[in-house]
Amino acid sequence: MNFHIMTLFPEMVTDGLSSSIIGRAKEKGLISLNAVNIRDYSNDTKHHKVDDYTYGGGAGMLMQAQPIYDCYIDIKNKIEKENGKAPRVIYVTPQGKVFNQEIVTELAKEENLVFLCGHYEGVDERVLEEIVTDYISIGDYVLTGGELPAMVMIDAISRFVPGVLNNDESAMTDSFNNNLLEYPQYSRPEEWMGKKVPPILLSGDHKKVDEWRLEQSILRTKERRPDLYEKWLSENPPVEKKKKRRKKSSEAQVIDETVKDSENNGDNI
Ligand SMILES: C[S@@+](CC[C@H](N)C(=O)[O-])C[C@H]1O[C@@H](n2cnc3c(N)ncnc32)[C@H](O)[C@@H]1O
Repeated sequence: MNFHIMTLFPEMVTDGLSSSIIGRAKEKGLISLNAVNIRDYSNDTKHHKVDDYTYGGGAGMLMQAQPIYDCYIDIKNKIEKENGKAPRVIYVTPQGKVFNQEIVTELAKEENLVFLCGHYEGVDERVLEEIVTDYISIGDYVLTGGELPAMVMIDAISRFVPGVLNNDESAMTDSFNNNLLEYPQYSRPEEWMGKKVPPILLSGDHKKVDEWRLEQSILRTKERRPDLYEKWLSENPPVEKKKKRRKKSSEAQVIDETVKDSENNGDNI
């Protein structure tokens, strides 16, 4: 996977993505980072100016169309030469679709992705119309620049590139797959500050452990992210069973049924 980042601060992106798992993935050649300085494409050879006042007035400066367009064309030509296909171009912007795991897995299928990082008041609309394929936000707040959002997206997407995580399966069991948050996890020691690891996790019974984890995931999602829980519930409706059973609270019943349904459906839990 090759990431191309159009930015006024390339060192911010390369420094920020040089350590830990992403740094190692880069060293192993599993991903590549091509942070390109938009300023290098300014027609203003003396001051390398890339921004100007906005028409109609208002506070702040706007990034101009020409340097961004020329920067993009250079990147696109190189990609097309190798790959024959124009890349998707993501403008990271608070005005975009909010980034989530579904978008991550979709973007992870691409071979090349181009990110445009805005700064100041943003970017001249005309170049956005010309080159951008996707408008994506990392949340409903405004940052000073697009570098951090681009880094967030690159990190999340890289986790789905085969080989980047030691255990590829962990990307599939993390929160948000199947619209559930991940279950609580514990490591050694078995007891800490008087708190014991749930005995089921020490039982060695993998089926029971899976059932417990699913149950915990459901409870946690319901409590912390009711919006996700509703989504999950609509995809996993409890099935009415005719069997006589002990009377349970309605919540426990929903969980009980769903654990069974998921087992029957062979869900990846
Ligand atoms: C100060 S912001 C400009 C905000 C713009 N004037 C607006 O109101 O939509 C500068 C740049 O930071 C980036 N940015 C800021 N907040 C962001 C967010 N929540 N998600 C993605 N990018 C963001 C964008 O690239 C944006 O062009």
